[in-house]
Amino acid sequence: MSDPIFDRIQPEPFKIKTVTPIRMMSKEERQEHIRSVHYNVFKLHSDKVFIDLLTDSGTSAMSDAQWGAIMTGDEAYASATSWFRLEETLKEIFDYKYFLPAHQGRGAEKTLFMAMIKPGQTIPNNMHFSPDRITASGGLMANLIIDEGKKLQSDCPFKGDVDVEKLDALISEVGRDNVPFVMVTVTCNNAGGQPVSMENIRAVRAVADKYDLPVILDAARIAENAYFIKELEPGYADKGIVEIIREMTALSDGCVMSAKKDGLVNIGGFVGINDDTLYEHMQSYTLMWEGYMTYGGMAGRDIEALAVGLREVVDENYLAYRIGQVRYLGKCMQDEGVPITTPVGGHGVWIDSQQFCPHIAPEHYPGIAVTTALYEEGGIRACELGNLAFSKRNEETGEVISFPEVDLVRLAIPRRVYTSRHMEYIAAVAGEVYRNREKLIGFKVKRYATIKYRTLFLGEMMPITED
Ligand SMILES: Cc1ncc(COP(=O)(O)O)c(C=O)c1O
Repeated sequence: MSDPIFDRIQPEPFKIKTVTPIRMMSKEERQEHIRSVHYNVFKLHSDKVFIDLLTDSGTSAMSDAQWGAIMTGDEAYASATSWFRLEETLKEIFDYKYFLPAHQGRGAEKTLFMAMIKPGQTIPNNMHFSPDRITASGGLMANLIIDEGKKLQSDCPFKGDVDVEKLDALISEVGRDNVPFVMVTVTCNNAGGQPVSMENIRAVRAVADKYDLPVILDAARIAENAYFIKELEPGYADKGIVEIIREMTALSDGCVMSAKKDGLVNIGGFVGINDDTLYEHMQSYTLMWEGYMTYGGMAGRDIEALAVGLREVVDENYLAYRIGQVRYLGKCMQDEGVPITTPVGGHGVWIDSQQFCPHIAPEHYPGIAVTTALYEEGGIRACELGNLAFSKRNEETGEVISFPEVDLVRLAIPRRVYTSRHMEYIAAVAGEVYRNREKLIGFKVKRYATIKYRTLFLGEMMPITED
């Protein structure tokens, strides 16, 4: 039964019991602070940030039920009851035979990659979230998102889909034995949190079956993806979120999940896998790098919070609010004339930096001009995911070899943390910066920390005027 007023306004489906005060500093203080950290927003002290949109990872607000569960955490080293509670929840939601805990997504990736990737093998994906982690595991990465997914503006509802023709062609070209598995990232973070359709996952499965290869999901935002399927894919309107997640996972052989997103927790992750032998191998990697197989780097209390968080994230009311809030920010930004990528995805709004500042040359990092201006104008911390974060560089000199196809700034929305009023504020600040965009100036890299695995997040920038 629908409630038209509720559906139209989409009020936050929670009341607030505990708050963290946030303080707005003066513009002069903000200008001084960002200058002092060399325009690297990762180094801004968080108490000097008014609205923090750096990431949606590990930044969720937990519910009273999660905080309550924390007190029941069993901190036994081995076979703690907390793990068995989480395992039961995982088995209810995800259609896999075995699960292994990890301290966060990258721990889960390490476990799975060590067990499955041989040096020199190619791993196809719609878009790898962290190509460096594939490279560090000895693999080669291939991003095979559909062409529509690379367009900044589009009407395509499933811009995260894998191009299955390219997938088939790639496997036949490199040879089946040179591909350990096919990966699909749901939703596709680097393409703007864009969802993948069930039809596409089915088509990926068919190609994988043709070559007898496993399919692995990067399931960090699987509940958000399932909501998009329910809303936008014919035949799914009457299905429940858990039913859709089970169908997605049944089409795959395993997953890695950073529970810091759709687990609604601040830390945690896991691997799901069906194959008995792989599970045995992975157990030893978990034990070696994460912790015993029933905690994997998480405290018992974190495991309890995750078990509750996973049940909360599959609630349709929560997901309608979550996706609705992100879309609302997108709409407010568009009303202000700010160039964003469309359709708006699951966990944030992406600004097109080069359309925002056409007067700044791509090699002068328009995205850094935008992140600097958002902080100076309104105390908002956003993240450059473009020419600085994703450029390919010479490992010795740091010289740019190539820039990525798209140059974006991400405003990632933490889950259950900010209200609609905050969304309006963010858009108003972005609108003000956009109206005064000709005043923005470009930047250059002042110091590389290490460039081997894109650790420019540790680096320093300077405005091009300060030679
Ligand atoms: C799609 C995706 N996969 C994996 C990860 C890695 O997760 P973690 O930061 O928990 O290691 C992220 C993190 O943002 C992500 O967005």
